[in-house]
Amino acid sequence: LICLGIEGTAEKTGVGIVDSDGNILAMAGEQLFPEKGGIHPRIAAEHHGYWIPKLIPKAIDEAGISYDDLDLISFSQGPGLGPALRIVATSARTLALSLNKPIIGVNHCIGHVEVGKLDTGAVNPVTLYVSGGNSQVISHESGRYRIFGETLDIAAGNCLDHFGRETGLGHPGGPVIEKLAKKGSYVDLPYVVKGMDFSFSGLLSAALRKVKKGTPIEDVCFSLQETAFSMLVEVTERALSHTQKDEVMLCGGVSANSRLREMLKTMSEEHGAKFYMPEMKLCGDNGVMIAWLGLLMYNQFGPLDIRDTGIIQRFRTDEVEAPWVNSDES
Ligand code: ATP
Ligand code: FE2
Repeated sequence: LICLGIEGTAEKTGVGIVDSDGNILAMAGEQLFPEKGGIHPRIAAEHHGYWIPKLIPKAIDEAGISYDDLDLISFSQGPGLGPALRIVATSARTLALSLNKPIIGVNHCIGHVEVGKLDTGAVNPVTLYVSGGNSQVISHESGRYRIFGETLDIAAGNCLDHFGRETGLGHPGGPVIEKLAKKGSYVDLPYVVKGMDFSFSGLLSAALRKVKKGTPIEDVCFSLQETAFSMLVEVTERALSHTQKDEVMLCGGVSANSRLREMLKTMSEEHGAKFYMPEMKLCGDNGVMIAWLGLLMYNQFGPLDIRDTGIIQRFRTDEVEAPWVNSDES
């Protein structure tokens, strides 16, 4: 089977084409770069509305197939920005109905995990998914992907981006902060892990206060990274101990950070677990992950009725039954 997947939960529009053997036939995408401030949901929606009709034929060309060769249309049903998701769902419905092909909606976060497994060969990992919009520790247990820990407020990437904007470092903040952090030393910042969850908004305010009071920006960047990443790694470590798994995977846009990778890899090795990270272009949002998860779900459950293709803005990872993973395997 060949599936075309459409992604657009946030600021990246993506179209991917994958076959049932997991071969990636095409991957097309366009990133929105906001001129000022963060992403406005309406602007993101306009971006998807402009690019989806261009990226679909581009992906079809790249795959060297015709529309008729498609067996399934998959789209990211949530979680994400409402107006953005609506454009994605409408595009997928239009394509499926006009080609008379089955349609399926999938959970964006699970898409990250499944494409990561496809790319790295990990079988049943504890996954740390950190991006601008999401921060979750995910692992499969009793037939579903469970959220072992998550942010209580903003995502880790959002924390970095917000810090970057407020201090004039620009958007996205992550890469600039990583660079400056290399020259910094530690100043005290609040470390907040509550139960298995983490919180970044207090850390963000405290870091901004330090800058205002004249602490060198390099020191604040260093400490912001060390504190935020230690929180993420601690919760991942506890999930690893709890599940007794032997694989750890990192994904999402913040995976670009080499300090986070190093910390997570060290922790994994201390537990005798193998550390995995997909190729960077598959770490961020993309259409391939939506197409691949669409195939996995279609094989299990068949297509969605068109009446059930509405968006699910707060779609939780653990709402989806995922019987295609065998938790006992590793
Ligand atoms: P999602 O819809 O999954 O939330 P997203 O829209 O945030 O995704 P991604 O490309 O997955 O998009 O992630 C972007 C985030 O990654 C931004 O917050 C950015 O600051 C962060 N990032 C990028 N490079 C680095 C880096 N080197 N260090 C830290 N963070 C980084
Ligand atoms: Fe994502």
